[in-house]
Amino acid sequence: MLRNKTIVLGVSGGIAAYKAAAICSKLAQAGADVRVIMTESATRFIAPLTFQTLSRHDVIVDTFDEKDAAVVSHIDLADRADLVVVAPATANIIAKMAHGLADDMLTTTLLATTAPVLVAPAMNVHMYAHPAVQANMETLAGRGVLFVEPGTGQLACGYVGKGRLEEPEQIVEAIHRFFMEEGQLRGKKVLVTAGGTVERIDPVRYLTNDSSGKMGYAIAEAARSMGAEVTLVTGKASLSVPNGVSVVHVESAQNMLEAVLERLPGSDIVIKAAAVADYRPVEKAVQKIKKNEQEMTLTLVKNQDILQTIGSMKKNQFIVGFAAETERIDEYAMGKLLKKNCDLLVANDVTQEGAGFGTDTNVVRIYDKNGLVRALPIMTKLGVARELLTLIAERTVKGEGTNK
Ligand code: CTP
Repeated sequence: MLRNKTIVLGVSGGIAAYKAAAICSKLAQAGADVRVIMTESATRFIAPLTFQTLSRHDVIVDTFDEKDAAVVSHIDLADRADLVVVAPATANIIAKMAHGLADDMLTTTLLATTAPVLVAPAMNVHMYAHPAVQANMETLAGRGVLFVEPGTGQLACGYVGKGRLEEPEQIVEAIHRFFMEEGQLRGKKVLVTAGGTVERIDPVRYLTNDSSGKMGYAIAEAARSMGAEVTLVTGKASLSVPNGVSVVHVESAQNMLEAVLERLPGSDIVIKAAAVADYRPVEKAVQKIKKNEQEMTLTLVKNQDILQTIGSMKKNQFIVGFAAETERIDEYAMGKLLKKNCDLLVANDVTQEGAGFGTDTNVVRIYDKNGLVRALPIMTKLGVARELLTLIAERTVKGEGTNK
């Protein structure tokens, strides 16, 4: 899997730097061409010679220590990398990355590379929880940087908590997973809908729902990192759009329907994670409604079902629907899948802990027209997105869902 892959391993200065030797060794054994860059402070914890011996390449610390006159080292490494891994990543290097600083070989290479970057943080529990560190990581995640979260346990500083570098085996597994997923959806045009729709009553009031958009945004992010060209049609959601994803903002179910219909012919895969309002007010007042009567009645009219509409007119598209249920999951999910002519349907029982609106996790069951395909345990929404997209990728490789 890692043969012919160039992995730049950036080692920054924390006590966990010694664990990077195991990462380097495992990657080299798996056939990767590993190029190690260390920060000055990392060399205080572990000798460059260790990495040089394990990777069988020179280790670079100093930006100006150019060994080959034919190339500029940091640009050469930045261009050559298939993946840059920073492990351990200290709070300092994370801050520098977030702010675009380039004051040593590692940060300069990180700024110069267009390769995907995977970061494995390691630091004291309070440092990790510090809003500055969290904000920096969010900024990086928003730019598409991947993270291997630190583990929880005894820290070198004496504290017990979250901040310990994830075990080398787990980091190497994340690297394997990255290369396995990468490119699975290359060439595919994926249309994702997310968030809740907003149905106006008057200029300042509306009907909406609790959808956070997290599931749909996670799907867009994962599809992008699997090589797809992704368009996200989003209703109400207060999330940042994943890097490299085209976005179309819509308000009502009708706007969403128009946006989806316009893009359907050019899409290979359509994933409808949005929580679309089933009804809208018959009338939208042009001016703010004044309070007069003791009671007021709002008459609602049914919205057109977007999923069902595209299900009935699909040609080569692979269509995935979602269903939020509170009871009789299998029965309702299969009913929706057949009625709306979906290729897959993802159902979640929103009454379950860790599932549904607003949470970072989800518990889903995935169906095709023959019944249950997969029942996933509680996972992060990004994890669910990856599982779902892997399933879609398997089912679309043979031409189905390919729109030339
Ligand atoms: N959906 C849609 N257009 C609508 C309503 C729903 O495209 N007007 C889509 C959602 O995006 C989702 C799926 O239909 O992919 C299921 O939505 P859900 O609200 O669970 O199902 P409904 O068909 O609306 O059924 P009910 O509300 O009766 O459970």
